[in-house]
Amino acid sequence: MDGSCNYRGDWKRFFLFCGTKPVKLSATDAGTESADLPNNHTGRYLTTHGSALTSTGNSLLLWKTLVLGIAGILLFLTPVQKLHAQTDCLSCHGDTTMQDAAGHNVGVNGDTFKASVHGGLACKDCHTNIKAYPHPDKVEPVKCVACHADEVANSAGSVHASVPGHTCASCHGDIHAVFPKGDPKSNVYPLNVPRTCGTCHGDANVSKQHSMTNVYPAYMDSIHGFALSKEGLLVSANCTSCHGSHHILSHNDPQSPTNKANIPATCGTCHAGVVTDYMAGVHGKAIAAGNMKAPVCTDCHTAHAISQPSTALSTPLCGSCHADKLTTYRDTFHSHVSSLGTYVEVARCSDCHGSHEILPASDPRSPIAPQNLITTCGKCHQGANASFVQYQPHANPHNRHQSPILWFIQFAMGMLLLGTMSFFVLHTVLWFIRSEVERAKRGSAKGEKDV
Ligand code: HEC
Ligand code: HEC
Ligand code: HEC
Ligand code: HEC
Ligand code: HEC
Ligand code: HEC
Ligand code: HEC
Ligand code: HEC
Ligand code: HEC
Ligand code: HEC
Ligand code: HEC
Repeated sequence: MDGSCNYRGDWKRFFLFCGTKPVKLSATDAGTESADLPNNHTGRYLTTHGSALTSTGNSLLLWKTLVLGIAGILLFLTPVQKLHAQTDCLSCHGDTTMQDAAGHNVGVNGDTFKASVHGGLACKDCHTNIKAYPHPDKVEPVKCVACHADEVANSAGSVHASVPGHTCASCHGDIHAVFPKGDPKSNVYPLNVPRTCGTCHGDANVSKQHSMTNVYPAYMDSIHGFALSKEGLLVSANCTSCHGSHHILSHNDPQSPTNKANIPATCGTCHAGVVTDYMAGVHGKAIAAGNMKAPVCTDCHTAHAISQPSTALSTPLCGSCHADKLTTYRDTFHSHVSSLGTYVEVARCSDCHGSHEILPASDPRSPIAPQNLITTCGKCHQGANASFVQYQPHANPHNRHQSPILWFIQFAMGMLLLGTMSFFVLHTVLWFIRSEVERAKRGSAKGEKDV
């Protein structure tokens, strides 16, 4: 038997060629695991490192004593349990190119593993059914629930629970190389989260198959995505800031942070000042009272394609619900100026109403309350006074209560038009009758003469 025990392809071959017998592993005492190891187990390990080991005779005994001696010294220097339990397995699996019979990689990078969050565990803390060498070809799948009951329970109730092949590893990556979430090497480090979720939510085919919007590209172009990916801003919103990590629910679920009723609170975890204003306004109060027709943050800003907002956006936005006010606004000078496409800072809905703390005219704090109009209009119209603000931004000549003067003028104009028209019609009709009568008279006079 030579030193190059070729275990690759089939561990049974390993034992065959290296001539060892299966040895029972003690599951509890890691110290004995090492001592009970098959001779050639250690032998092979050294051989791969180029040592001139032969597996027969006294020289092996010598080597064994030497190795055990070194191990003995190490016993005092390192936590025993870890070192032995891991090296047992890593003596074979530590070769990162190792493959099983089917050609799948079964290598584990020992250095990376030891530096990872699980580096303090023994391999068999997770691979619990491996108790002896040789171990079974097919080992039980690892159960994370033993140590992470909360995450497993939360994931089980999430949208992802029904997705085939969606395991913990689809977000956390190689389980032998998991790093704390605060470590930039972690898949779930804030700056890496969008890419992690994007492996599926940036794949147009996956999205189409599950009839979802392919949100990753929109998110990356948004102000949040830009802040995260280009500015490296950890405090910007990543996917989990709005969706959570494990208990991710569809927005139709009332428990979801992305359900309409919960959106102000979700955005408000970061935009605390805005959400306070919003909740004090009509829309926030309406949502709190259960009127889902009122807008929440995402109705105006979208969820994934959020850009730098401007008041210019507000006209079509506010108008999509307040259609009557949009119509009357369209009739005003402000709208006409803006539709000319000039660069003048013309008044849009939110210039007069605000964007978040929107209040009715009857509220004394409202920018459109009569006593505040001079200030509101004065932002753009220097020297605006009480008579200037009599101007009605939503004048509606068809509404007698809202715009009585305009309504009266419109009414009077209508009357004048009607009167004038009536007079001329009557006048024409009478004129026609008169002319017919005259013609008849003239005709009979001529006939008398002819006779
Ligand atoms: C003597 C070498 C050797 C040692 C020591 C060893 N393994 Fe293996 N292991 C193998 C080989 C060879 C395979 C590939 C088996 C195959 O071809 O199916 C394998 C496969 C595996 C697999 C994959 C099984 C599957 O279902 O695909 C796991 C998990 C595993 N070993 C874990 C361990 C753990 C944990 C230890 C330590 C307690 C350990 N091994 C110790 C040689 C070894
Ligand atoms: C935190 C738990 C955990 C620890 C600790 C752990 N593993 Fe694994 N291991 C897994 C999971 C999860 C898989 C994926 C397959 C599965 O679900 O069973 C896996 C798979 C494997 C496989 C199959 C090939 C592969 O990479 O998919 C081998 C071999 C393996 N582990 C060896 C080891 C060795 C050697 C150690 C110790 C150095 C170790 N494992 C420690 C969780 C763990
Ligand atoms: C035997 C117990 C055990 C098992 C089984 C186990 N883990 Fe862990 N896991 C730990 C310990 C201990 C930590 C470190 C906790 C800490 O530092 O607070 C950890 C940490 C983690 C972390 C990183 C937490 C952070 O700080 O960001 C993740 C992610 C993780 N485990 C995922 C898994 C997954 C996925 C599985 C199943 C494949 C699994 N673990 C199986 C014990 C275990
Ligand atoms: C959809 C992606 C995704 C899946 C699937 C997933 N995780 Fe996580 N996990 C995350 C993210 C993102 C974080 C970090 C942010 C956080 O703490 O919520 C995280 C953090 C963790 C942590 C650290 C928790 C803490 O507060 O320190 C553990 C432990 C963990 N996951 C275990 C698991 C286990 C076990 C599974 C499988 C049942 C799993 N994860 C599945 C995305 C996921
Ligand atoms: C392995 C692929 C994969 C990864 C990674 C993944 N997802 Fe998913 N996700 C899916 C699939 C597939 C669905 C559709 C589930 C269904 O049809 O019910 C889904 C559904 C969702 C939904 C619900 C959509 C709806 O119907 O309302 C949300 C929200 C979601 N994922 C967010 C995330 C977030 C956030 C992350 C990262 C932390 C993530 N996903 C990571 C595959 C993935
Ligand atoms: C600022 C908060 C926020 C961020 C950041 C965010 N989402 Fe969303 N997401 C939402 C809201 C709110 C919804 C609910 C539906 C809507 O309003 O479009 C949603 C819906 C979804 C849906 C369902 C789409 C559908 O068609 O049903 C998926 C999938 C999703 N998000 C994944 C992600 C992923 C992946 C990321 C990161 C790349 C992400 N989200 C980032 C707030 C956010
Ligand atoms: C995790 C924290 C966080 C959450 C949650 C969050 N945001 Fe943001 N948001 C930020 C940060 C940080 C910026 C600043 C980015 C920059 O300026 O580069 C920002 C910027 C914005 C801007 C642009 C502001 C400007 O002046 O240009 C808007 C609009 C916005 N967010 C809306 C929302 C909405 C709507 C939600 C909920 C659906 C939300 N945000 C959720 C952190 C968050
Ligand atoms: C009715 C539409 C509407 C709703 C609802 C709305 N916004 Fe805005 N938001 C706007 C408009 C329009 C602007 C830009 C005009 C401005 O600067 O006042 C804006 C500006 C912003 C800004 C930039 C800072 C600022 O004040 O200029 C942030 C951040 C923001 N909104 C976040 C939110 C959040 C968070 C919510 C939910 C609590 C929300 N918005 C609800 C319309 C809305
Ligand atoms: C998604 C539809 C929607 C959008 C978009 C919307 N609103 Fe509203 N708005 C409502 C609803 C519904 C109410 C009634 C709330 C209540 O009092 O119950 C309301 C109430 C108001 C009121 C108070 C009216 C009154 O009679 O008391 C004002 C002012 C107002 N909105 C202005 C705006 C402005 C300005 C914008 C754009 C920045 C806007 N709205 C965008 C739905 C919307
Ligand atoms: C030049 C300033 C100005 C602009 C621009 C403006 N409004 Fe107004 N809005 C007012 C004033 C002043 C009132 C109160 C008097 C009235 O009802 O005409 C008002 C009243 C309203 C009301 C009823 C509030 C109540 O308490 O009854 C709504 C709703 C409204 N506006 C929506 C809009 C929408 C939507 C737009 C954009 C399409 C818009 N406004 C543009 C100044 C403005
Ligand atoms: C965001 C700036 C802005 C605000 C706020 C604003 N306006 Fe204007 N307004 C303009 C601009 C720009 C014009 C067109 C400029 C011009 O040609 O004089 C205009 C034109 C007008 C005109 C017709 C032209 C004129 O100067 O006589 C009237 C009347 C008017 N605004 C009334 C109001 C009233 C009343 C308010 C408050 C309810 C108001 N505006 C608020 C910007 C604003």
